[in-house]
Amino acid sequence: MSNLQISTDRSELDVPLIYRFLSEQSTWAVGISRAVVERAIENSLCFGGFVDGRQVAFARVVTDFATFGNLVDMFVIPEYRGRGYAKDIMRAVMAHPSLKGLRRFTLATGDAHGLYEQFGFAPPQRPDTLLERYFPHIYVS
Ligand SMILES: CC(C)(COP(=O)(O)OP(=O)(O)OC[C@H]1O[C@@H](n2cnc3c(N)ncnc32)[C@H](O)[C@@H]1OP(=O)(O)O)[C@@H](O)C(=O)NCCC(=O)NCCS
Repeated sequence: MSNLQISTDRSELDVPLIYRFLSEQSTWAVGISRAVVERAIENSLCFGGFVDGRQVAFARVVTDFATFGNLVDMFVIPEYRGRGYAKDIMRAVMAHPSLKGLRRFTLATGDAHGLYEQFGFAPPQRPDTLLERYFPHIYVS
């Protein structure tokens, strides 16, 4: 059984750790400001993963709690990877009562398809219908 404690209470999050990971180590948000990270956390359903009281994992879902969700900013800090913690977070996401019955649940990943496929995520059924405005380097000045 996993020893990862998962909380959706934003007040328990280690915001400096999340900010440090996203702004310095992530492959998608390098350069993001602390203010933008805080605003994103404030307006998302956040999942923090803790071992012995220390935060080691994070993910958040941007959602209307009714029809749509988008999973973003999933990470496990390097020393704690390979222990099933990302799968624990995903299990908590999929089990969350406010995320049941969504018509569409999306995420983007560079290489972790095998993780998310275990939870029913698959390439878009109709990719030709999906459009985006995407600025991947927006935080890099
Ligand atoms: C991706 C990440 C969250 C995985 O965390 P983790 O705790 O090491 O993952 P887990 O131990 O729960 O195992 C993940 C499972 O998915 C599989 N998997 C597929 N692609 C993977 C990938 N790119 N990275 C890690 N696991 C991957 C693993 O093989 C494992 O499968 P298993 O069921 O056979 O054990 C972690 O490596 C990380 O933080 N990476 C940097 C940030 C990142 O890339 N985030 C994802 C953005 S979409």
